[in-house]
Amino acid sequence: MDPIRNPYAPGAGQRPPELAGRDEQLAAFGVVLERVANGRPERSLVLTGLRGVGKTVLLNALRSQAIGRLWGTGKIEARPDQSLRRPVAAALHMAVRELAPRHRAPDRIDAFLGELKAFALRGNPPTAKLRDRWQPGIDVPARSGRADSGDIEIDLVELFTDAAGVATDVGTGVALFIDEMQDLGPADVSALCAACHELSQLGAPLIVVGAGLPHLPAVLSAAKSYSERLFRYQRIDRLDRIAADQALCAPAEREGVEYEQKALDALYEQSGGYPYFVQAYGKATWDHAPRSPVTAADVRVAAPDAEAELAVGFFGSRFERATPAEREYMRAMAALSGATGADDPDAAVPTAEIARSLERKPASLSPARDALIKKGLIYSGERGTVAFTVPHFGRYLRTQPA
Ligand SMILES: Nc1ncnc2c1ncn2[C@@H]1O[C@H](COP(=O)(O)OP(=O)(O)OP(=O)(O)O)[C@@H](O)[C@H]1O
Ligand SMILES: [Mg+2]
Repeated sequence: MDPIRNPYAPGAGQRPPELAGRDEQLAAFGVVLERVANGRPERSLVLTGLRGVGKTVLLNALRSQAIGRLWGTGKIEARPDQSLRRPVAAALHMAVRELAPRHRAPDRIDAFLGELKAFALRGNPPTAKLRDRWQPGIDVPARSGRADSGDIEIDLVELFTDAAGVATDVGTGVALFIDEMQDLGPADVSALCAACHELSQLGAPLIVVGAGLPHLPAVLSAAKSYSERLFRYQRIDRLDRIAADQALCAPAEREGVEYEQKALDALYEQSGGYPYFVQAYGKATWDHAPRSPVTAADVRVAAPDAEAELAVGFFGSRFERATPAEREYMRAMAALSGATGADDPDAAVPTAEIARSLERKPASLSPARDALIKKGLIYSGERGTVAFTVPHFGRYLRTQPA
């Protein structure tokens, strides 16, 4: 069918034509926003899940929801080895700019922006030459005295409190969205938890909404033991059959296209309900199908194309980030998860077994394992085991020649 009208959207962070199966999370977040804006105690949301399950897309949808309720919002994508200061400053700048037109006292906005600038400038090393210093794009003079102590924990508490104060004036709140949250450094995680803790005790309307890989809760509780009481963890998973069908059928229907039941059976078998795969197989099938209704035969003909796309865009691009030693490690993992987890292609594997199969001492493999965790390719959900963050990655590796 006409590729120009193809509605499906495989790709990182690509907004799907139909956000299927996430009503529960959207509804829960609506309640959180109302409660927080009214000064009621409420835990913030942290979305966790494997690669490609739709965390970024859902985070963006939650942000739209907050904007719809006139909240000030900002978003950060955490990166390993990057301090939180600059991105937090930029995100809160954005959030307060959204609130400013409704605020009656412009000098209060300027006072906050001055504080924000001082906070951001603290991120420059004291020894940096003037021309190397980073300048935030805030055109009011920096105001010293708050949020500029240099201790990130103290500074975040003060900055968040004052941002929340601006939002209180206009009767809403501030929501800070942090994607890839597992990549924050330990000091930043700890400061962020402390700031959220403080703000929730004050009943101040500022919340942090995070998204990250399945081991994010462990990262947070390693920083602060009370983090479990601070955040409500929502596991974002594959779509069930009804939601996966809806993700395919609703956009097609808007183009006057239908699926035969057997076509939907075949698509679910291929995608396993993983949102990225739903989009990829849906897209290839549309391009191959000559007409509506789409048949199971169309799905079969299109599958190799979808697989080839995924091999390059979803699996291959990630595999290429690994060094030879790390690839060897992942191949051993894939072979073991294929052997042990026959009914779960993404089963976790004991690290001791990986060492045994490579005939190496476990300690000698730690650098490869740690580097793969840092690159976000594997994670350790349970002590002594590792699993792929990318669904079906083991299966993909097993089909690749060594
Ligand atoms: N609820 C949904 N219904 C249908 N399609 C979806 C849904 N959520 C996400 N998708 C599709 O899945 C793909 C992956 O989404 P997204 O990039 O948000 O995943 P992610 O969990 O953030 O992945 P990563 O961990 O790699 O960042 C996109 O193509 C998106 O359109
Ligand atoms: Mg993402």
